[in-house]
Amino acid sequence: MQASDQETLKILIRHAAIEKRVKEVARHVTRDFKDDRVHLIGVLKGACIFLSDLVREINLETSIDFIAVSSYGRGKDSSGQVRLLKDLDSNIKGLNVILVEDILDTGLTVNYLLRVLRQRKPKTLCVAALLDKPARRIKPVRADYVGFKIPNDFVVGYGLDYAERYRNLKDVCVLSLPPEHA
Ligand code: IMP
Ligand code: MG
Repeated sequence: MQASDQETLKILIRHAAIEKRVKEVARHVTRDFKDDRVHLIGVLKGACIFLSDLVREINLETSIDFIAVSSYGRGKDSSGQVRLLKDLDSNIKGLNVILVEDILDTGLTVNYLLRVLRQRKPKTLCVAALLDKPARRIKPVRADYVGFKIPNDFVVGYGLDYAERYRNLKDVCVLSLPPEHA
């Protein structure tokens, strides 16, 4: 795909590698929750593509729901404040909940969501993140399932956006902006 004016894209993780890794993560989930049901909660909008590929590879009874938060606005940097924009459709009490995120960056979003979800008494609660940028962490959160650890670059594709663009890229790419935006 063509990047917009002066923005450049460099492939970091190819789609084939993502597909392979998503299958492995799904196998781990299937093994860890053997014969039980899992309830996947995707964090909109970034996690929707990861979740839809992941859930189809899980060989268990599943259900899905979505939650939306705001933390980043339109640009590359977090405002540091997390706000709930869309709550879950259904009760999670007694369920094996897997919170599905596109990327663990500062950890503020997942830290906030784990606090909110824990109060609702799921049977178990864990996190699956496609990408993990450990260098940027502010809150001490970790994902139970991680697709790929990546360096501290701004990435787009496979659900991840820059100002709502590039979510449809099949590969995960590093986005470079012209100096006045970086
Ligand atoms: P955190 O709260 O800082 O961990 O950030 C979580 C959210 O920020 C993610 O769900 C993404 O939506 C967004 N984010 C963090 N890093 C990137 C990136 O490199 N590219 C695109 N979005 C990102
Ligand atoms: Mg997100």
